[in-house]
Amino acid sequence: MRTIIEPFKIKVVEPIRMTTREEREKILKDAHYNPFLIHAKDVLIDLLTDSGTAAMSSKQWAGVMEGDESYAGSQSFYRFERVLKELTGFHYIIPTHQGRAAEKILFHIAVRTNGSEQQVIPNNTHFDTTRANIEYVGAKAVDLPCEEGRKPSLRKPFKGNMDLEKLENFIREEGVPKIPLVMVTITNNSNGGQPVSMENLKGVRGITNRYKIPFFLDAARFAENAYFIKLREPGYENKSVEAIAQEIFHLADGCTMSAKKDGLANMGGFLGLNSRAWAQKARSLLILTEGFPTYGGLSGRDLEALAQGFKEVLEEDYLKYRIRSIEYFGEKLVAMGVPIVEPPGGHAIYIDAKAFLPHIPPLEYPGQALVNELYVAAGIRAVEIGSVMFGKADTPADMELVRLAFPRRVYTQSHVDYIVEAMEEIVKYKKKLQGVQITQQEPIMRHFTAHFEPL
Ligand code: F0G
Repeated sequence: MRTIIEPFKIKVVEPIRMTTREEREKILKDAHYNPFLIHAKDVLIDLLTDSGTAAMSSKQWAGVMEGDESYAGSQSFYRFERVLKELTGFHYIIPTHQGRAAEKILFHIAVRTNGSEQQVIPNNTHFDTTRANIEYVGAKAVDLPCEEGRKPSLRKPFKGNMDLEKLENFIREEGVPKIPLVMVTITNNSNGGQPVSMENLKGVRGITNRYKIPFFLDAARFAENAYFIKLREPGYENKSVEAIAQEIFHLADGCTMSAKKDGLANMGGFLGLNSRAWAQKARSLLILTEGFPTYGGLSGRDLEALAQGFKEVLEEDYLKYRIRSIEYFGEKLVAMGVPIVEPPGGHAIYIDAKAFLPHIPPLEYPGQALVNELYVAAGIRAVEIGSVMFGKADTPADMELVRLAFPRRVYTQSHVDYIVEAMEEIVKYKKKLQGVQITQQEPIMRHFTAHFEPL
């Protein structure tokens, strides 16, 4: 059979409230033309993020009832810990309420602040919270993506890779004492959700071994990355995704993880470590901000849902459906001539708004213009990843992208077909779309709260 079906039946449904174009025009105007400020009930298909938006399985909900809400020594924690130790091999699993909490703790421990020189942490591409947490402790976050990753329309299998030559030169130039750790983000969210190959990860391990620098993963989408390795990397076609994921984790000295993605739950994260000394420090910090080490900002029911979610996310029927549904959407867009980051990544489609709307200059925010039109035309909520998010006053960002991120197990193929239809309509009148101007903004992370007006 050619059709890959959703490998689940729907047991609980949440109604979507239908709206008309006129209603949406008013809703968007009242939200100052910033979809972050729209109430979720006014959205038909919400593709703002794949984070914390998964549908849980019947087994996860059963686990929720089993949750042991003890302050210390909860059974749910030990189940969570066992599943993650089997998966990652890390000696210490420290639960946190989400990914950024694990990042905050890791960088507090790893970055030395008493030396005279500023410390630097390279990554293939840092996610915004990772970068912000590094800068918060006075260090510098540096991106070293491979050259292929910089070309949106280029079809290559592992555009999320780190540039190994640049990494080695970087270590030589900066010097080992300035680099507390090297990080790799799988998949590379800030660069189109593109995967990283096992070969590249082994390359990073080789270099960090040679210079004796710890190697950490930002593993938010580790299962999607492992599945891409199975599909695309020679020698891995007959390995299970679970074995590939284990091999990835065994290369690293630790990880931060936002479990709101491939943990298939709505909240959670953890810090994985092999170093006993770092684990001791991490647990002390954990108690300050997250909680006792056997719950770390999560309730027993969350830990249960995650323990089950980390197993389900490695089921290959699930991953096949997951990756195929994003690819299906990407194929339809390419067929109608909409430029996207190719090939489609694991969790989202990124439309190249600069190429799609060439008549709108970057500082009139073509990405925001498209995001707003998707909402008005069809009630779809996407997010601008361009000059609104990363630009400054007169300096545009490198790229003007619009991300449509898919919550896990939430939407069906007819939802995707509806989004395709919406884009077909927009293509017909795209020349008439106009840019926006910012009328109000905060000094940092302005995209969340900025007010806009159409030009
Ligand atoms: N690392 C990556 C690669 C991420 O994509 C995210 C979150 C985080 C870390 C932070 O995790 O939200 O649990 O604190 N990404 C979300 C997104 C917000 O929409 O891409 P968190």
